[in-house]
Amino acid sequence: MSSAQVAGPAEIDRARLAALIERERATYRHRHSKSRAAFEHGAAHLLGGVPMTWMRMWAGGFPLYLDRARGAELVDLDGNRFVDFCLGDTGAMAGHSPEPAVAAVTSRYAGEGGATTMLPIEDASWVAAELARRFGPTHWSFTLSATDANRWAIRLARQLTGRPKILVFSYCYHGSVDEAFIVAGPDGPRSREGNVGAPVDPRETTRVVEFNDLDALERELGAGDVAAVLMEPALTNIGIVLPDPGYLDAVRELTTGHGCLLINDETHTFSAGPGGCTRAWRLSPDLVTIGKSIGGGIPFGAYGLTAELAERILADEDADIVDTGGIGGTLAGNALSIAAARATLEQVLTEAAFDRMIGLGDRFTAGVGDVIQSRRLPWSITQLGARAEYRFCPQPPHTGGESAAAADSELDEYLHLYTANRGVLMTPFHNMALMSPATTAAHVDTHTEVFAAAADDLVG
Ligand SMILES: Cc1ncc(COP(=O)(O)O)c(C=O)c1O
Repeated sequence: MSSAQVAGPAEIDRARLAALIERERATYRHRHSKSRAAFEHGAAHLLGGVPMTWMRMWAGGFPLYLDRARGAELVDLDGNRFVDFCLGDTGAMAGHSPEPAVAAVTSRYAGEGGATTMLPIEDASWVAAELARRFGPTHWSFTLSATDANRWAIRLARQLTGRPKILVFSYCYHGSVDEAFIVAGPDGPRSREGNVGAPVDPRETTRVVEFNDLDALERELGAGDVAAVLMEPALTNIGIVLPDPGYLDAVRELTTGHGCLLINDETHTFSAGPGGCTRAWRLSPDLVTIGKSIGGGIPFGAYGLTAELAERILADEDADIVDTGGIGGTLAGNALSIAAARATLEQVLTEAAFDRMIGLGDRFTAGVGDVIQSRRLPWSITQLGARAEYRFCPQPPHTGGESAAAADSELDEYLHLYTANRGVLMTPFHNMALMSPATTAAHVDTHTEVFAAAADDLVG
């Protein structure tokens, strides 16, 4: 993990930026006319005109429509080719349609047959053993998404501790988990802006503190009602916020001391290495959750717990984890997802692949850092292994609140349009770039050149 920062920042000329955005919007409309037509005329019965409403998030007024994707590149409906650093916001961190996963899925679906049968397949044991080897917790169960892995891990934690609340960090994101839509503010905790139809006020279910604030964590855990702390070892969904030295060890000590469980959500922080931050930083959570990339693009998620917790939950006669107790889904643990996960973990997201991906993360961070420094831009870049993110503040943010305050929708739009118009795809939500096993040094250098050109246009 690393970050670079600048001294003596230059000012951003807002009038100039507004003119550049207009120019880039026009180019975007021109280059992507088929995507625009598909969005404007072909989607009358899709809520918001898109298959999932967050696909409206793309800058430019309409999303790019996918034609095809392989490895680290994709082609849109207009035939434009992109180097893809978005990688499905980590769902495609293994690269698009990696060959081993294609072969395993084809074999299971078209060969043996039986995508979803409610029967186990033997590969499940291999996947669980591999997750145990990589992340530590010894007993694993499967889901179709990281959201469900978190939801079910939270339920298990409540059952195991007999406590009602969980604790999360301000501006975290753990999927559409009701308990997590809460932020810390000067007047105390509040529901996160835009929280849709919340089942209850999240203050009833959740305590929230800023990341890297140990005093606040100790105070909140002191109430004695927290079943589990749900955390990413580094925040990745509000830019990247790295832990202070010693912070995660102190979190472990405090959670143990206050009798609550620690859940590491490694869905994004998996970028830190083959066993995520948990292994890279020698952490010892009680539960680990993960999703997105480990199915090679096929829906798959997992949660693992220690042997002691597994024994306790299996022995708990009040906990129906088999039928209608609130944990599980018909398609969870299905054969197709497991076949994809085995192939992805065994042959794609390997130790060697992570070495290469992290090397490319270093290259990306160095390239962007040089551009930021040489143009004296008041920005910073932060790296977490194979993932890097630039943020519009001169110092890398230290809390979720600080990082949220550095959001700049105009700069976001400008950079997203600028890169998309020149064949580079970044994550739409923020300025995250992810390396896959198929990403090359040439891909990274393409981004650096485009980013440098965008900076030059901006500073004139
Ligand atoms: C850390 C983290 N956990 C969980 C999720 C939820 O993943 P999914 O939407 O695939 O369920 C996300 C999604 O961005 C995430 O970033």
